[in-house]
Amino acid sequence: MRVIVESDAAAVSRRAAKFIAALVRRQPTCVLGLATGGTPQGTYQELARLHRDEGLDFSRVVSFNLDEYVGLAPTHPQSYRYFMQESFFRHVNIDARNTHVPDGRALDFEAHAQQYERQIAERGGIDLQLLGIGTDGHIAFNEPGSSLGSRTRLKMLTPETLADNARFFGSIEAVPRLAVTMGVGTILESRQCLLLAVGESKAQAIRDTVEGPVTAQVTASALQLHRDVIMVLDEPAASKLARLGYYREVEKAQAELEAAGRARG
Ligand code: GLP
Repeated sequence: MRVIVESDAAAVSRRAAKFIAALVRRQPTCVLGLATGGTPQGTYQELARLHRDEGLDFSRVVSFNLDEYVGLAPTHPQSYRYFMQESFFRHVNIDARNTHVPDGRALDFEAHAQQYERQIAERGGIDLQLLGIGTDGHIAFNEPGSSLGSRTRLKMLTPETLADNARFFGSIEAVPRLAVTMGVGTILESRQCLLLAVGESKAQAIRDTVEGPVTAQVTASALQLHRDVIMVLDEPAASKLARLGYYREVEKAQAELEAAGRARG
């Protein structure tokens, strides 16, 4: 696991966008796994800026979102499809037909989940999966207790997640109880994972994810089993890491190596 600590949320967004932009330039037909929530919003803004100012081209990029609330129409302002449309898709030249978000109003969720998995496979799998993290250490909507081998399916949200997400809905009662979400197993199959976390409220989840045991109680900890994970954190989110000094040293060495590589041309 590569742990990168940036000074603040804006720097986290710039760093994350840089990783994604580099992939899009290298591989214009790449498959991006995308996330919702407050955390990736700055990253989407920065990607939109790179599209506007530097012509970053999304025309052949394919995307799959992690999850969606059950019962919300794509036009509902709190649906994740709407969020993606407003925060990202409409600001870049991605082809709408290449964007995928689970359907919160599917009639047969099991069939829909299987179809979603099939679509990912047909596109060759996810090259880079962007992730946020819940305060209880969940990724996507894989709440504590989710099987670490799980696939796309329905999941019931925990009271903690309902309370965390109530801020977007006005009240806890308005938050849907169910979501359709990629599984931990689905996420682990992505070629690379890029997890972002900002703020002190994520510090314990990050500590558990990076330095705790691998456990279904903290589904992000399953990322320890993945061979290519990058975590980009701000200082408060990184504040409970026991080996913070070591991670910083590693990044310093990495930066020196990259600079030496550039100097050699
Ligand atoms: C929800 C989403 C997750 C997201 C989490 C944290 O649970 N399903 O994908 O990581 O919220 O959101 P935020 O970035 O707003 O803290």
